[in-house]
Amino acid sequence: MPITLPPINRRHFITGTLSGTAALLFHPVWSAEPEIQSQDVWAFLSDTHIPGNRNQTAGTPSINPVEHLIKIRNDILSGNIGKPYGLIVSGDCVYLHGLPDDYKTLLEEFMPFREKGLSVHFVMGNHDNRQVFLNAVTQSTGINTPPIIPTRLHSIVETPKVNFFLLDSLEKTNHTPGLFGEEQLQWLADELDSRKDKPAILVGHHNPDYSRNIVKAPGALQDTTAFFEQIRERKQVKAYFYGHTHAWKTLRVNGIHMINIPATAWRFDQNQPFAWVLLTLKDNGMSLTLRSIDPEYPKHNEIINLAWR
Ligand SMILES: [Fe+2]
Repeated sequence: MPITLPPINRRHFITGTLSGTAALLFHPVWSAEPEIQSQDVWAFLSDTHIPGNRNQTAGTPSINPVEHLIKIRNDILSGNIGKPYGLIVSGDCVYLHGLPDDYKTLLEEFMPFREKGLSVHFVMGNHDNRQVFLNAVTQSTGINTPPIIPTRLHSIVETPKVNFFLLDSLEKTNHTPGLFGEEQLQWLADELDSRKDKPAILVGHHNPDYSRNIVKAPGALQDTTAFFEQIRERKQVKAYFYGHTHAWKTLRVNGIHMINIPATAWRFDQNQPFAWVLLTLKDNGMSLTLRSIDPEYPKHNEIINLAWR
């Protein structure tokens, strides 16, 4: 993506706009449901790692990524904790190598969200493959995708309270480090400059390298310094959401909230949850609620309120 898959049954015209090549992929849909859901509530998932084979297990101890996604899907669609307007998956959408069957299963497993009226936005991670993903989207939805694969898939989703900037840090499939690249960072700067009056939330896959050249983090975002240079003084930037490390963590850099969304698939640290995060936008900040697959997880239902800088 960020690519946007529209809901199947929402009545009103989706107000999100997409820039760049991703705009070609976006088809608004009219439908029959009278209720318009609040655009202030979103579900964030990350590192779903969906394999083509639904029986595939992975990790130590081994888990089944599809089963995990189904549990989370049931939780989101139950409405017990709010009704998200849409979903944003912050990368590593599929298993490891970005294969056609992986994306077929991914799109099938996300279809129930769209049928319930949610839009679905996928961000590319280091285990994704842009061309294979776009081919799968065309095959399964009929949504036209660009004939020539762009170097990055980025887009903007505009809502009443914030603008989401969906970024693409995939450099090479199944290669751990990530890179936004000069071209995309310039696009981001230009688009931010034309949207100064509304808070901006950025979403990408890779974690920033917080050490920034002091102790290089080899698997992190390799152009963290350039990224921070572009966003530090653009005060409309309030938060950056990312995945990749399969961890739940929040911190602040230059007043910008850094939100690490945990994985729904396997974890690297057994103390981390399999979880998703409910985002509720406020006038001057946001509230995050952690929803773990395991209700006994100590931070299940933890609520974090964060104010904008
Ligand atoms: Fe991952």
